[in-house]
Amino acid sequence: MRRIWRPVLVGAVIALVTFALAKAQIFEPSAAAPGTPVAGNAARGEAVFGRECATCHGTAGEGGSGPALQRTSLDASFVTERVRAGAGVMPGGLVTGQDEADVVAYVVGISAP
Ligand code: HEC
Repeated sequence: MRRIWRPVLVGAVIALVTFALAKAQIFEPSAAAPGTPVAGNAARGEAVFGRECATCHGTAGEGGSGPALQRTSLDASFVTERVRAGAGVMPGGLVTGQDEADVVAYVVGISAP
């Protein structure tokens, strides 16, 4: 009679341990390493781009007085560096913090080939 409950008990223990481990989040992959840039939101970045960058780079980054950014295969660290330091007539530090992360995510998105 007692034997019948053994698999049920084992299953329950496995389920509990799994939930406990998931809750503890020891295997959480999104835990950012120090120095890793903040995650940007490309949708919000589009609005930031329209406000701060579009006058030179075009409404959708198609280019204007500044170079086109569409399909140019730029990566996040390069874009971040340009935004911080500026380039030519482009002033550095136009955006910072979350706005910077968001606009970088947007630019990386439109620069994808
Ligand atoms: C005043 C005009 C102006 C504004 C505003 C401006 N840029 Fe630029 N940007 C330029 C010019 C001009 C260059 C090219 C500079 C050079 O390399 O000589 C450039 C270069 C860049 C580059 C490097 C492109 C490449 O292929 O090398 C990136 C990335 C960039 N800008 C992103 C941005 C972002 C993001 C913003 C808004 C936060 C922004 N820019 C605002 C004029 C501007």
